[in-house]
Amino acid sequence: MKSTNQYLKPLTLKINKNLEIGGCDTVELVEKYGSPLYVMDEHTIRNICRDYKNAFNSYPKVNMMFASKALCTIATSQIIASEGFGFDVVSAGEIYTVYKAGVDMSKVLFNGNNKSYDELSLAIELGVGRISVDNFFELALLNEIAKSQNKVADILLRITPGIECHTHEYIQTGHLDSKFGFDLTQIDEAVELINNDYTSLQLHGLHAHIGSQIFETSIYGDEIEILVKEIGRLGLNEINIGGGIGVKYTENDCPPSVYDVAEIVKKRLNECIEKYNIQPPALFIEPGRSIISTAGITLYTVGSSKQVPNGRKYVAVDGGMSDNVRPSMYQAEYTAQVANKPNAENTEKVTVAGRFCESGDILIKDVELPELEEGDILCVYNTGAYNYSMASNYNRVPKPAMVLVNNSQSDIIVKRETLDDLISHDVRID
Ligand code: LLP
Repeated sequence: MKSTNQYLKPLTLKINKNLEIGGCDTVELVEKYGSPLYVMDEHTIRNICRDYKNAFNSYPKVNMMFASKALCTIATSQIIASEGFGFDVVSAGEIYTVYKAGVDMSKVLFNGNNKSYDELSLAIELGVGRISVDNFFELALLNEIAKSQNKVADILLRITPGIECHTHEYIQTGHLDSKFGFDLTQIDEAVELINNDYTSLQLHGLHAHIGSQIFETSIYGDEIEILVKEIGRLGLNEINIGGGIGVKYTENDCPPSVYDVAEIVKKRLNECIEKYNIQPPALFIEPGRSIISTAGITLYTVGSSKQVPNGRKYVAVDGGMSDNVRPSMYQAEYTAQVANKPNAENTEKVTVAGRFCESGDILIKDVELPELEEGDILCVYNTGAYNYSMASNYNRVPKPAMVLVNNSQSDIIVKRETLDDLISHDVRID
């Protein structure tokens, strides 16, 4: 069955005179809230959450944890929590955001390869449900912190399963030469330390994450095999398989259906439960991108353009690498459509450039579009994940606002930064 992450555009996207999303006219959204503008479609977010639940629910002990690093705002956290998801967080900032969103902190899992003393203390104080410990240093530190608060920290061990996936090398994480997690050969030593010395730690299971924007389904089976074998040997009862399911940024991308991934995971899990003769473990899964990417679009306004004699035509928009660093960081590709003339035919090949002082600030290279004029609104699809969450103030450009749309209603969920916001942390020296 097709799942929401396999769509290039938000589910409510319609072509009228202008593009419409969540029942709202995109050009009117820009008139009302300014440009550039992140727009999130609530219906699409809820739909993919339900895909995940329907796909995995037949496994009795499944825990869906949204990877907040893909997008962490109070409103989107509220929506995802209301769908029954917990949260994977990786910093005090993410912990604080989901806490302020009213998330049940026992459904929060804290990840990261260098969590600080203060961050671990906050996690324990607020009652975060699981901490995935990444290395020996952290085991000792967390034990000390938990002891000082008279608490026992419930932990998983993050391991590096030695699985390579075919994605950009910066977003591969499960291969052996990785900064994340314990090597398989180090697990026994870690478990011994926990059992003998670290009395303020309670180990429940193992955690791995292979990579991101993954299109192959079989590697999840390989990962399950390693995790179940290890927990069987160690007498543990939880596995966390991380996230990673891909999305469709361009027509050429064919991400897997969440239903197909779930079938492989459940099948392999049941086989391994029998093979290693263990009780069915609790299963944690941490999707980020696939939950939130498709729901998001970014609306930009077209400004200047430049025809290089006998070369490319560059058309510049009012945003770029500070609101979406993915093209310049990972050579990521995106799909765009002109929001105020969605029915116009493509007549020219252009390169959509950002407004930042950097030659690499290109949003989409050599894309066929209708002729773009100053003031046109360009809609870039699939910007819900790792766009706002990786945004910067490069060139001292304020971050765009984010609007939530649903049933013809639009609401600001992140305010546009102002010039005063930009200087609010600066301190004069006189
Ligand atoms: N769990 C762990 C431990 C992770 O490290 C990640 C992502 C996830 C879950 C969620 O993975 P997802 O389902 O979103 O693929 N900035 C990059 C992606 C980095 C992903 C880092 N870890 C990008 O824009 O492509």
